[in-house]
Amino acid sequence: MRRALVAGNWKMHGSREQARRLITETVDGLPADCAAEVVVLPPFVLLPVAAGVLEGSRVGLGAQNVCDADEGAYTGEVSAAMLRETGCRYALVGHSERRALYGEDDALVARRAAAALRGGLSPIVCLGETLEQRERDLTAEVVLSQLDAVVAELGMVGLARCVLAYEPVWAIGTGRSASPEQAQDVHGLLREHVRRLDAGVAETLRMLYGGSVKPDNAGALFAMPDIDGGLIGGASLKSADFLAICRAAR
Ligand code: PGA
Repeated sequence: MRRALVAGNWKMHGSREQARRLITETVDGLPADCAAEVVVLPPFVLLPVAAGVLEGSRVGLGAQNVCDADEGAYTGEVSAAMLRETGCRYALVGHSERRALYGEDDALVARRAAAALRGGLSPIVCLGETLEQRERDLTAEVVLSQLDAVVAELGMVGLARCVLAYEPVWAIGTGRSASPEQAQDVHGLLREHVRRLDAGVAETLRMLYGGSVKPDNAGALFAMPDIDGGLIGGASLKSADFLAICRAAR
């Protein structure tokens, strides 16, 4: 049985004051019987204040990226060990904004995932096709090659310690979510691919859907057999919406 995970990706939003308020509201509003594991992913500089507010709560902490190296001359980067020491348990890698705006390719994303594992973090590996790729019928090819790059670097033992997040690029921040059936099709495909490599890993690997998840569509998405929770962008910045999405998880 896979426990649902709902992760709130704040992207580059928030001040210390907003972080305190948003996290306090989330912690206070989370029902005691919430089925999902809940994690927030604030910008790097807000991680310490977030960690302080989260201490002793049931809400976990993660980062939006992690360096592929462990230490050294990598100006502007943050290592897995630093994140771990700050209280993180997860790190996103390969978010489509990193791929599209900052040129991170499959090989670098895979190395970042490997560094996260070495430093004791669980990588949340983002995959997804652009609208153009979908229209050219390349969705399966794109997401499977993104996944294969991670498998080549980590092996199945490493993949078993990851979370996947399928985020169609055309659905991110657009208000146009994939339908539950569209999302399930890709999740099913990904799980089948993993199953051919290792049936045990396929059973336990959690796969989140991300891209315009809102309180009114979360329930239908999370009801799909291979969708194990969500990666939530815009809606994670409003505690009422984020909590409603957390409650929708099975
Ligand atoms: P969105 O973002 O929920 O605002 O579409 C999702 C993400 O980019 O992780």
